[in-house]
Amino acid sequence: MTMKETLILKGNIIHCPTPREFEIHENSYIISRKGKVLGIYPELPGDYKGIDSKLPEDLQNIEFHDFGQALIIPSFIDLHIHASQYMQRGLGLDMQLIPWLEQYTFPHEKLFAQEEYARRIYPHFAESLHSVGSLRSCIFGTIHQESNEILMQSLMDRGLIAYVGKVNMDCNAPDYLCENTGQSLKETRAFIKEFQNNPRVKPIITPRFAPSCTSELMRGLADLAEEFDVPIQSHISENPEELQWVKELFPHCDSYSEVYRNHGLWNSQTLMAHGVYLTEQGKEWMRQAGVQVVHCPEANLNLTSGIMPLTDMLDAGLIIGLGSDVGAGQSMAINRVMVRAIQSSKILHKFTPQSRVLSLSEAFYLGTKANGRLWGKVGSFEPEYSMDALVIQDELADREGFSPLEKLQRFIYCGDDRNIAARYLEGRRI
Ligand code: GUN
Ligand code: FE
Repeated sequence: MTMKETLILKGNIIHCPTPREFEIHENSYIISRKGKVLGIYPELPGDYKGIDSKLPEDLQNIEFHDFGQALIIPSFIDLHIHASQYMQRGLGLDMQLIPWLEQYTFPHEKLFAQEEYARRIYPHFAESLHSVGSLRSCIFGTIHQESNEILMQSLMDRGLIAYVGKVNMDCNAPDYLCENTGQSLKETRAFIKEFQNNPRVKPIITPRFAPSCTSELMRGLADLAEEFDVPIQSHISENPEELQWVKELFPHCDSYSEVYRNHGLWNSQTLMAHGVYLTEQGKEWMRQAGVQVVHCPEANLNLTSGIMPLTDMLDAGLIIGLGSDVGAGQSMAINRVMVRAIQSSKILHKFTPQSRVLSLSEAFYLGTKANGRLWGKVGSFEPEYSMDALVIQDELADREGFSPLEKLQRFIYCGDDRNIAARYLEGRRI
C-alpha cells in the first residue's frame, strides 16, 4: 500500500515537550506530512476543513482517523534491550550480575550459534517490541553473525526502527563466546557495511562491557565508530563486584568511566547502560562529552545491583534515558519501566531524603523524548518531529468519565498491549 502524504489523527493528544509537565490537547487534531508532525490543532485548519465529514475514498492523499475519546501519545522507545535474552526473562534472577552472566546468560546466548534458534526466537522478539509499543529501540544481539542478520531481518519485517549491535567480547568469557580480537573487528566492520545504509535498522558498536574486552578490541571498535560515524552502546558501573573486577583489570584507570574514555568510546553518540555507581568525575566527563546514561531500574532491582540516583543525576545535567534491559529486566513495556523508575526514586528518597522523587511527566519524558535523542527529532509531537504515535484505548475509563490525564496515568501504571489500539511510525500505521 502506498503511503498517503498527509496523516490526520483526532483524539486526546498528550506529549511531554519538557519533563516538567504533560501538554494535553483534548479533542484535537494532529497533522503530519511525509512522516513529520506539522502541528496540533483544536479545529482543522484552512486546507483541511471538512475532511472529517468526507468518506475515506474521497480523500486524496490524506489519511484521517477519528479515535474519539482515545489518547494519542508518542510511541515508546527502549534504549537498552538484549534480543538474545528474550526467552531468559524471569530466569535466575535470584543472582547478582557476574554469576547471573556466567550461569544463565552466557549459556543462553550460546544457543544463537545456531541460526535455527535465532529463526525461532527473533520474530517473537520483534513482535513483542511492536506489541508493547516500543517502535524504536537500541538492541544487543550476540557475537553471532548469522543470528544477528536474522534479528535485523525480523525487525525490518515487523516495520520497526532500531539500532542493533553485534556484541564484541574477546576475553574473560567462556570459550564458546570468546572471539579472536582480529576476527571480532573484521566481523563488526562487515556488519556495519552490510547495514549502514539501511534506512530503518542500523548498526551500533557494542563492546559488551569492559571486563570482556581487551584494550586492543576497544580501541579497534572506537576506530570503527569514527570511521563509519556509528553510535556506541555498552554497560557501565552496574554492580560493586563488577567495579572491583574492572579495577583489577585496568589498574591504570581511576574509574570505570576512565576505561571507556581512555579507549575512545566516549562521545555524544554513546549510550551507557546502568551507571549505578558512577564517580563524580565520571559523571562530569559524561556530561561534558554528551554520553547518555540509560537507566534500567528493573534490572538494577532484579540483580540486586542498587538504585541509580536518577533525579540527582538529572539535576546535575546528565543526559539520561530508559531501558528495559530484558532479560535482567522482566518487562518489555516501557510504561512499566517508567513506573519502576518512579518507584526506585521513592525508595531512594525514603533512605536519602535529599534525593527527590521522579515525577510522572519526567518518567514519560525519559521514555519518549529523551530516548529519541539518538535519532534526532523523535519522541514528541512538536513540529518537524517524526510522527511516531500510539493510540491508547480504555473503554471502561471512557465510560466512567476519566479525564485524559487520568487515563494516561492508568495506562502507564496498569495498561498493557491490549490498550494499544494503533501504532504509527514515521506517519505510517504498522
Ligand atoms: N553486563 C555485561 N553484560 C550484561 C548483560 O547481558 N546484562 C546486564 N544487565 N549487564 C551486563
Ligand atoms: Fe544490559
